Amino acid sequence: MVAVNDPSSPSTPSPSTSGGTPGGSAVPEDGAWWRHAVVYQVYVRSFADGDGDGVGDLPGITSRLPHLRDLGVDALWITPFYTSPQRDHGYDVADYRDVDPLFGSLSDADDLLARAHELGLKVIVDLVPNHTSDRHPWFQAALAAGPGSPERARYMFVEGRGEDGDLPPNNWPSVFGGDAWTRVTEADGTPGQWYLHLFDSTQPDLNWRNPEVGDEFESVLRFWLDRGVDGFRVDVAHGLFKEEGLPDTELPDPDADGPASMVELAGLDEPMWDQPEVHEVYRRWHRVLADYDDSPRGRRMAVAESWARTAEAIARYVRPDELQQSFNFHWLSAAWSAEEFAEVVTETLPSLLPYGATPTWVLSNHDVVRHVTRYGGGELGLARGRAATLAMLGLPGSAYLYQGEELGLEQVEVAPEDRTDPSWFRTKDTAKPDIGRDGCRVPIPWGDEEPPYAFGPAAAGSQPWLPQPDGWAPLSVAAQTGAVGSTLEFYRRALAARRTFALTAGEEVEILDAGADVFAYRRGPLVCVLNAGSAPVGLPDGVGALVLSSGVDPTGTLAPDTAAWFLDD
Ligand code: BGC
Repeated sequence: MVAVNDPSSPSTPSPSTSGGTPGGSAVPEDGAWWRHAVVYQVYVRSFADGDGDGVGDLPGITSRLPHLRDLGVDALWITPFYTSPQRDHGYDVADYRDVDPLFGSLSDADDLLARAHELGLKVIVDLVPNHTSDRHPWFQAALAAGPGSPERARYMFVEGRGEDGDLPPNNWPSVFGGDAWTRVTEADGTPGQWYLHLFDSTQPDLNWRNPEVGDEFESVLRFWLDRGVDGFRVDVAHGLFKEEGLPDTELPDPDADGPASMVELAGLDEPMWDQPEVHEVYRRWHRVLADYDDSPRGRRMAVAESWARTAEAIARYVRPDELQQSFNFHWLSAAWSAEEFAEVVTETLPSLLPYGATPTWVLSNHDVVRHVTRYGGGELGLARGRAATLAMLGLPGSAYLYQGEELGLEQVEVAPEDRTDPSWFRTKDTAKPDIGRDGCRVPIPWGDEEPPYAFGPAAAGSQPWLPQPDGWAPLSVAAQTGAVGSTLEFYRRALAARRTFALTAGEEVEILDAGADVFAYRRGPLVCVLNAGSAPVGLPDGVGALVLSSGVDPTGTLAPDTAAWFLDD
């Protein structure tokens, strides 16, 4: 038996709750609302367009919040909406304390927060501390000030190697392809220093060994906390510190199968990732968040995007004096395999035991191929996607959903001329082009028979910033609402069922031996069975009454590519 936390640990919360109504946050008595929350990721450009310019925005999100309430999630995480030249769609921030006019204004952000809170939804915003935009005033000042200046010391400016300094300082690759270094031309016109950018060249990495950087981010945190946000998703949380001396790294095998994806590169155990000093930053942020513990708005949290390699390394981000959650990308990276699902669960839960934190589970986000497509696409991929979702939602801890997965959306094949993702442009002419992230970011279909599928008020037939495919009408929210067997209704039922036991089923999980192709577990009175094989399987002994299945309800046996929940009487 594996458990999330030790019931004798002082940090284990009481299972009793206040709240628990659909669409509102079920908050445990200690106020740690995130421990078992379902969080819905809103990719701001693609969720809902309020003004008809073809790009999603904050008023659009506000207008669609009732969808999230009706779905039954506890919180939403919104990707960056700050002032930005949009070279990486907002992950290149030029002003951390303002809203980009493309997405609205600070007053729109306030309205969104107020409306979400009225509906009982918490709001998590994205924080991008590893790098700024090259248009950020700090970087502009650094370019102007020249080598050795305090302005350059906020970033990673270094002399090049080679006789004339014309070789990059080391061999680090950018996660988006190509070199992680760009050389600047100094004010006198001569070739000058190099600056580090682990992502695009328009995203210079900050120097977190400079105390000014830490002070600035504490102030940014407080700015948004004071406006009422409930938490932060910390972008590239494992990347802030780089090993002293900036040593060369071991490069991924160029002959390995498949493209070098962001996931693959960002997960390597190298001098730019997961350095021990990064944890001091999160201890400081823990103290900042704790300052709000007694606020009438409730407790605040942060979730780390940490592609650290092992479950133990990921768990270090949620030690009791650090952040509250860390994404567990191992669940997302697992193949469609009963053995792999079981392995991830048995590795994840004990890794958190010493810290009393709950796990997180996620199948899709804006950086990866949608899981329906990863699992084979079409009917098969959808059946597996629904089954994996049900298995995920039965586990203790917090589940993160990505917009559109509740509609069963697949990855879209985006034509080269419509591509916008910097990682695609930086790799498209190489032997290993990144398939890019545009295909999982296509705007949501809300209704209507043709693009923009009620994404916004733009004219019928017009396309939003990324073109929507033909044939999406039956997948829209309007088309699936109330439709028996639709993926949307399945998600609503699953979230409602989860709410009735999630906070009381306990945090211990027993993996059941139900056959080689079967991932089955018991959690308190709940038994979940997932058939990853190709033939029907019998149900484990002693399962209770059927609560819900992801496909055809089992009668004695469970069909392939299906999961079901059973509850003891
Ligand atoms: C975000 C990406 C972004 C990158 C650079 C990631 O982890 O999820 O979308 O491109 O950080 O900020």
